[in-house]
Amino acid sequence: MPLVAANWKMNPTNVDDALDLVRGVMSVARGQADKVEVAIFPPFVWLTAVAEVLFESGVKLGAQNAFWEMSGAYTGEISPAMLKTLCQWVIIGHSERRLFVGETDEMVAKKTAAALSSELSVIMCVGELADHYDAGTSDQVVSTQVKAGLASCSADDSARLVIAYEPVWAIGSGKSADPEHAYKTMRLIRKIVGEMIGAGAARKVRILYGGSVKPENVQQYVELPLCDGVLVGGASLVADEFAHIVKVTAEVYGHR
Ligand code: PGA
Repeated sequence: MPLVAANWKMNPTNVDDALDLVRGVMSVARGQADKVEVAIFPPFVWLTAVAEVLFESGVKLGAQNAFWEMSGAYTGEISPAMLKTLCQWVIIGHSERRLFVGETDEMVAKKTAAALSSELSVIMCVGELADHYDAGTSDQVVSTQVKAGLASCSADDSARLVIAYEPVWAIGSGKSADPEHAYKTMRLIRKIVGEMIGAGAARKVRILYGGSVKPENVQQYVELPLCDGVLVGGASLVADEFAHIVKVTAEVYGHR
């Protein structure tokens, strides 16, 4: 089943707005739950309130980050074991964490392994910077990130593992990637995952596109043969836009 994920990032700034947004999304997503898996990733502080609205709706909940230890003296961190009490999903290695908080491939690998060991499903994000894209080195950068990030993963993790290909230059910029470039990179990701955990298991790993996905352009990505859904930032903060993205995804996959 395709996955449409809403990454709210550091928004909204109060719980009432968070609840309005999730209720707006739910009114559409609930009706599509048999065709599309929808997962919402609010900031940590709104997880409990959003969980109450989502309860028994079929719409999933996730966090935007998790630490690699389960408990202990790690001020400010939140562990997969804690998240597991509230969520089914976690995003690991988003480019904004790599850029603004200095998350390395090694940290991404530790976090991915810890989250999977807590039975969370993981969206691990990879993607090249504009400089890499311009220099034609996207493939090398993405290969390195995938190999390093999955270093401790095995075939057993495949059903709970999702890789989001998000060219960093396309995130929040309005410059969505050319579908041909997205397709080639997703094909490369599938090949590398196959080399690491076996081709059979790799087929179960879902691959998403992310980066300026909007109602107007979602179809060109979800129609790509290797694309299992989308990771949506800005457009997920507007209930109608996100709902439209969910509907288009359901329609396209319904015809496959
Ligand atoms: P965007 O963000 O849709 O606003 O480009 C996507 C993401 O960062 O996951």
